[in-house]
Amino acid sequence: MAKIWARKSTDELAKEAAHSDPSSEVRPLRRTLSALNLVALGIGGIIGAGIFVLTGHAAAANAGPAVSLSFVLGAVACAFAGLCYAEMSSTVPISGSAYTYAYATLGELVAWIIGWDLILEYAVGAIAVAIGWSGYAVSFARDFGVNIPPEFASSPLVYDSSRHAWSATGAIVNAPAVAIVVVVTWLLVIGIRESARFNNFIVAVKLTVIFLFIIFCAPHFSTSNWITASNPQGYFIPPNAGQGVYGWSGVIRGAAVVFFAYIGFDAVSTAAQEANAPNRDMPIGILGSLVVCTILYVAVGVVLTGIVPFDRLNVPDPIAVGIDNAGVGWLAPLIKLGIVFGLTSVILVLLLGQPRIFRAMAYDGLLPSAAARIHPRFHTPHVATIASGAVVAVLAGLLPIGLVGELVSIGTLFAFAVVSIGTLVLRIVDPELNRPFRAPAIWIVAPLGAATAIFLMFGLPVDTWVRLAIWLVIGLVIYFGYGAKRSRLALAG
Ligand code: ALA
Repeated sequence: MAKIWARKSTDELAKEAAHSDPSSEVRPLRRTLSALNLVALGIGGIIGAGIFVLTGHAAAANAGPAVSLSFVLGAVACAFAGLCYAEMSSTVPISGSAYTYAYATLGELVAWIIGWDLILEYAVGAIAVAIGWSGYAVSFARDFGVNIPPEFASSPLVYDSSRHAWSATGAIVNAPAVAIVVVVTWLLVIGIRESARFNNFIVAVKLTVIFLFIIFCAPHFSTSNWITASNPQGYFIPPNAGQGVYGWSGVIRGAAVVFFAYIGFDAVSTAAQEANAPNRDMPIGILGSLVVCTILYVAVGVVLTGIVPFDRLNVPDPIAVGIDNAGVGWLAPLIKLGIVFGLTSVILVLLLGQPRIFRAMAYDGLLPSAAARIHPRFHTPHVATIASGAVVAVLAGLLPIGLVGELVSIGTLFAFAVVSIGTLVLRIVDPELNRPFRAPAIWIVAPLGAATAIFLMFGLPVDTWVRLAIWLVIGLVIYFGYGAKRSRLALAG
């Protein structure tokens, strides 16, 4: 039990990274990813439901035209954590992401808590985006005269948060959501290189769609669209109308909402053991994808609120509403197709990350060893991939999007805070360690990374905090019932 605070030593980590541990029956993953693949992996995981859906909600309800400022704030918060992730991933290039970094810095118990928490980011994130994918795919199919009956295209369950009760909707299963998860899981089992190639293609499609939107809509930009009933003077930041509604507090609440749009850059760190030169390329992948997406998000925010009054954007398809208002409606089917593709790569990257985290946890003895198994031919963690895919597919077929979406942001922010603190701790306890990438001004960057993550967590509803607490308690019960007795560290002691 005293082992729960034990950190992994630098030697152990080096052995693990090189797969030279003689006691391991685990085969290595295959190193095939270039720096460009890693940037594409980041962009593939980042650009999705956040920019295509939540931008409209954040503009209409919170920030008005200043939603672009919310995107800048969100990016600043992510940049601090991103620098810490970049340092950790170059120093400890092992696939478990925040889980591994916590193990190296704050000990086994905290590592388990973060590993368990990351399920909220990756598996639950994949569920949320798969449900969103289904909505867009059904609407795209309808445009071409293919009607999927609603009882097979929506959640059979709905949660009423005011009554704290579940009820049936009459639907049977969200079949498109299940189908996309099955297809992506299959792709991930057959190979990381195939998955990366498919991801590169999708990333190209989604970047093209965003550029088309910016190029064709920017000429229609007019500050007259800033004028609405709640902003008669047409200010860039509309006058405050209550906590989180316009004004600076609205810009900040908007940042907490659009934070979801940035989730995914950290997923690059789960592919560390499949990168050709992880020490050099991981920081490029993490920070490069973050920079590209920030520029695009701010541009989309500026253009969107300049082509349509922001009070009309609280809809599931704000980009389509903007396009129509700008008189370039012919772009709509292309944009929808781009969004369907775009959400596919987000699911792919999240479902790529989850099994690699499970694999790292199983390698350490915190989960059954089957989860660490690597396929002899495909060189992918097939057992963990299929298990994660199966659970995600079933839940994506049954659950409503609202409930799962909220959990994703809080789980991710919690991991950001721990990684930021962990980076500083490692600088203190192991100052001589070789760090190919060093985050600048660590005494400022790491505390700010943790503080901004916690600050944004406070922007989320109390219900979400309660769910996070319940999830973590379940995790602790599993840890003390299983992992604490069977972990490598416990057995070594
Ligand atoms: N950032 C990802 C998205 O917006 C999760 O869909």
